[in-house]
Amino acid sequence: MYTFEEILRKIEEAVRGIRFEHSPHSLFEPIEYTLALGGKRIRPALMLMAYNLYKEDVERALPTALGLEIFHNFTLLHDDLMDEADMRRNKPTVHKVWNANTAILSGDAMLIAAYQWIGQTEATHLKPILDLFTQTAMEICEGQQYDMEFETRQDVSVDEYLEMIRLKTAVLLACALKMGAILAHAPEADAEHLYQFGIEIGLAFQLQDDLLDVYGNAATFGKNIGGDILCDKKTYLLINAFRKADERQQAILAQWIGAEGVDPQEKIASVKAIYDELKLKDLCEEKMRGCYEAGMAHLEALTIPAERLSVLKGVCAKLMNRES
Ligand code: IPE
Ligand code: IPE
Ligand code: MG
Ligand code: MG
Ligand code: MG
Repeated sequence: MYTFEEILRKIEEAVRGIRFEHSPHSLFEPIEYTLALGGKRIRPALMLMAYNLYKEDVERALPTALGLEIFHNFTLLHDDLMDEADMRRNKPTVHKVWNANTAILSGDAMLIAAYQWIGQTEATHLKPILDLFTQTAMEICEGQQYDMEFETRQDVSVDEYLEMIRLKTAVLLACALKMGAILAHAPEADAEHLYQFGIEIGLAFQLQDDLLDVYGNAATFGKNIGGDILCDKKTYLLINAFRKADERQQAILAQWIGAEGVDPQEKIASVKAIYDELKLKDLCEEKMRGCYEAGMAHLEALTIPAERLSVLKGVCAKLMNRES
């Protein structure tokens, strides 16, 4: 079995080997820029770790894993445009370095490249892998659309939020794990438990992302802090702020959420002050722990010896406390 560090090294080496040698260079340069900036590579790592639960030759899963990482990076190009985000991985986003059209078209090219890599999956597994990938990619679009629509709604429920983050984020982590299981010929029930495990840790992952967007350190997180507040994103924090605020706090929220032309730093500070007063960071962390434990129950149900799970469990425990 491989350690997480060994798996990451294989992924990094493989990512460095990706070439885009067609012209025009201007279409592919933003792709190389994005892929070279790193990131956690958590999706391909989850796929290889799931594969490695059953089989040793993890290299066989690499082309499929690279496809998922390229796909993930494609979603970031479009997401940063939609969220008007200027920074990612401590560098200006593609639409800032180039422009919106570049983020759209280079993003489209990345989606196509993702299919090319996933298309290299060996023929025996290709159909289920492609079906799962296509379903996942469509769900992410659905989640992203809900995310955008929720910006202008004030009545988003916790359940609606959880379904939105399941779609925009959790399904891709789940897909990565299940693909690893499929490629390794794991029993179907195991593949399904790994998928559900991925959903739960994916929910926790997005809850943590929402927390870091308010409480993180910009240099470590690599993204501008407060972006979700500025866009009126309906995060677990904001939804619970609406639910728990007293009259005074409701009035402050009403003054900022949905307001045009306000001072950004003042808005972030005012909304964050309410989160602090209502101790919503604790509430969010409690929700994350619930998802994490629900995920662990699925790992316990796998048919493999418990000691083989230590790498995957260790990575997930660390993810829960991530700062980036
Ligand atoms: C960012 O994903 C988008 C979310 C789903 C929160 P990551 O946090 O995995 O981004 P990188 O790839 O590590 O930069
Ligand atoms: C990201 O959600 C989901 C996808 C990219 C599909 P966010 O908008 O919260 O991700 P970040 O914070 O920009 O990475
Ligand atoms: Mg975003
Ligand atoms: Mg977004
Ligand atoms: Mg975010």
